[in-house]
Amino acid sequence: MTTAAQTSREALQQTVNLAEIEALGRAALDQNALEYYVSGANDEVTLRENRDGFARLKLRPRMLVDVSNVDTRTTLLGLPVDMPIAVAPSAFHGLAHTDAELGTARGAAALGTVMTLSTFSNTPIEAVAQAALSRPGKGGFWFQLYLYRQREISAEVVHRAEAAGARALVLTVDAPFLGRREPNERNRFTLPPHLGVPNAGTRQELAGVETATGSQLVNYFQGLVDKTVTWNDLAWLRGVTSLPIVLKGILTAEDAELAAQHGCHVWVSNHGGRQLDTAISAIEALPEVVDAVAGRTEVYLDGGVNRGTDVLKALAFGAQGVFLGRAALWGLAAGGEAGVAHTLNLLNEELRLAMALCGKVTVAELGRDLIRR
Ligand code: LAC
Repeated sequence: MTTAAQTSREALQQTVNLAEIEALGRAALDQNALEYYVSGANDEVTLRENRDGFARLKLRPRMLVDVSNVDTRTTLLGLPVDMPIAVAPSAFHGLAHTDAELGTARGAAALGTVMTLSTFSNTPIEAVAQAALSRPGKGGFWFQLYLYRQREISAEVVHRAEAAGARALVLTVDAPFLGRREPNERNRFTLPPHLGVPNAGTRQELAGVETATGSQLVNYFQGLVDKTVTWNDLAWLRGVTSLPIVLKGILTAEDAELAAQHGCHVWVSNHGGRQLDTAISAIEALPEVVDAVAGRTEVYLDGGVNRGTDVLKALAFGAQGVFLGRAALWGLAAGGEAGVAHTLNLLNEELRLAMALCGKVTVAELGRDLIRR
């Protein structure tokens, strides 16, 4: 007799690309969860552009190179990883799977890469850290945060992340207000009451926040997050942690320059098209950011990465690594830890093949000569 779990495991193992995993993941979610994950802001122009921007870039492959051994290993902030692909922060993995962030962390650790844990996770930092650090010398986790009006809550969460073994703090800088994801407003997105938000500060409970005026998350977020934050506030963060700071949500050379001046690493992102609609796609913003920091900091990217050639293009432009947001969630929804691992593995195998077909055997060889200007 085959159980439903066996059937879904088989369906997952039969998928040959991320689009097929996405279809399985979508089918596993209810409307409230699905709308939360898929929505972009307003007309979702930027959401689509993230993918279209990659598709428009054309490759210039080189031939007659020995590509019998392609190596996708690299480092992220000095941490060795088996692939230049890691997991971006996203909220509420409990909406996708009962294992929630533990499934994501185990899947990333199994494939030897980093998971970035969201402040808005359904699982406490300490438990996720244990799962993420389950392969010594591999993987590891970064922690994403927003600066709260009540700075002591932010300080507490930073200290917890640092004590649990986080290797970096990822400060999201593109969301003083949440963007308007219209389906979540229309259908009043709510976090199911069985899911907690244990890292957002012990004094803040999302479940009690009202939804009569739209998305529960938006109402919660507006009360919590400090909208006055400027470059000057980075000194406060430096004062409470010795971890590297990564600024996530940078889209221009001007802000990349400021980030480098402030000693921060740069994460190119438009928040998966969920914040400012019609903002530039991540891959189109990347080259000017890389040029602006000129090697002073590492540069990462998320947004629209679904194919090995997408990873290759981001690395060719100078990204140290790419991060998966929704793609990791589809894997989690489709099969928990195994789904996340399968997603990462498929994408890395696509990258390996794309590198071979471009005549490149190490990620260090990927440069701008690969892309038609
Ligand atoms: C979002 C926030 C929580 O995009 O990052 O929903």
